Amino acid sequence: MQRNTLSAERRILITGGAGFIGSHVVRRFVKNYPQYRIINLDALTYAGNLENLRDVEKAPNYTFVKADICDAVAVAMVFTEHAIDGVIHLAAESHVDRSISDPMAFVTTNVIGTVTLLNVAREAWKDRLSGHSPLSSGEGRGEVRFYHVSTDEVYGSLHDDSLFLESTPYDPQSPYSASKAASDHFVRAYGNTYKLPFVVSNCSNNYGSHHFPEKLIPLMINNIRNNKPLPVYGKGENVRDWLWVEDHASAIDAVFHKGVNGETYNIGGHNEWKNIDLVHLLCRIMDQKLGRAEGESAKLITYVTDRAGHDLRYAIDASKIERDLGWKPSITFEVGLERTVDWYLANTEWLDHVTSGAYLRYYEVQYAR
Ligand code: NAD
Ligand code: DAU
Repeated sequence: MQRNTLSAERRILITGGAGFIGSHVVRRFVKNYPQYRIINLDALTYAGNLENLRDVEKAPNYTFVKADICDAVAVAMVFTEHAIDGVIHLAAESHVDRSISDPMAFVTTNVIGTVTLLNVAREAWKDRLSGHSPLSSGEGRGEVRFYHVSTDEVYGSLHDDSLFLESTPYDPQSPYSASKAASDHFVRAYGNTYKLPFVVSNCSNNYGSHHFPEKLIPLMINNIRNNKPLPVYGKGENVRDWLWVEDHASAIDAVFHKGVNGETYNIGGHNEWKNIDLVHLLCRIMDQKLGRAEGESAKLITYVTDRAGHDLRYAIDASKIERDLGWKPSITFEVGLERTVDWYLANTEWLDHVTSGAYLRYYEVQYAR
């Protein structure tokens, strides 16, 4: 397999770029690669928010397209109009609890949406893939690449002290992880069957700014500031391996530019926390930031019914990406968590906005076709 080389100009489609991780990836690529054209395609579901990209929306190398990845015609138009030669695919339904109450939405976006995107890419790139295009050989504009951003949850749940490796067999346990596993399999199947050049990465839990406050860390921060109960599922003993979102974005940059076609890269922070310990840490930080007495916020902790089929532990062995691509996390959890809390406290309007009905109505009106 060939190492993908950097070309001077790229026309990259980033899907899901208005979401949590996607907005950090879009910002990084728009700012660090002015010679690229970045097309952000996003359906603006409840989780997508163009406010996340205010600082780059007027950049000359940035375009936003509101479209659904399941809409083959709309996606094909974007490929044609912008002569897309690289895809970084992040658009997904991403919340495990929602997948338990509405699995079909996850099948639709994560599986059918991904296969729709693969079909469009295959059709748009068919001359280059068959070698019939003058652009299909050598370095530069002939190179195409489909990068699928996935999750460590496809590997299932750890019940000992081992780590997920790239070779760990898939064993998804929730409707969300089953849908992501299916999409990973389709990407690899298109690589094998149609010779579509692809890379896949599987990352652990991200945290940082612009994270929708239904996920553990922003939900707890938002509830602490509003003096609302902090719902800890089960006994709070489940373990997650947390990575700062901007370090995930830098890993995605490394995989897109330096990853080997057909390969998978695990991404993680070597940073395991039991949920209850993490919630206590957040309570201590918030007590300090809000000038509350020590122990005040922790009184809000409320143990609630466990998540159905709750995976016990995730933990990533990231040695392959560290060794092969020279990537490693840039900051410690202590620094990242404090930055994160500071961001939410400085952006309480964002928190109030994305959790309000007004937000949903605004986007329905603003972007209705
Ligand atoms: P998110 O829910 O914050 O954002 C998802 C984005 O996709 C939103 O902007 C949404 O509007 C868009 N979207 C949803 N359905 C769409 C559709 N049908 N068509 C077009 N756009 C659509 O998600 P996130 O946490 O930023 O995750 C991004 C990707 O990274 C996902 O593929 C997820 O599986 C993966 N991932 C997430 C984490 C994590 O900790 N958050 C970890 C590893 C991998
Ligand atoms: O591992 C990567 C995955 O991490 C991503 O693929 C998913 O898109 C992302 O949402 C995340 O999944 P989790 O289910 O691990 O994240 P969540 O923030 O929902 O929950 C983290 C842990 O906290 C989990 O053990 C459940 C628990 N939890 C969560 C919520 C929302 C609670 O105890 N209480 C809560 O209110």
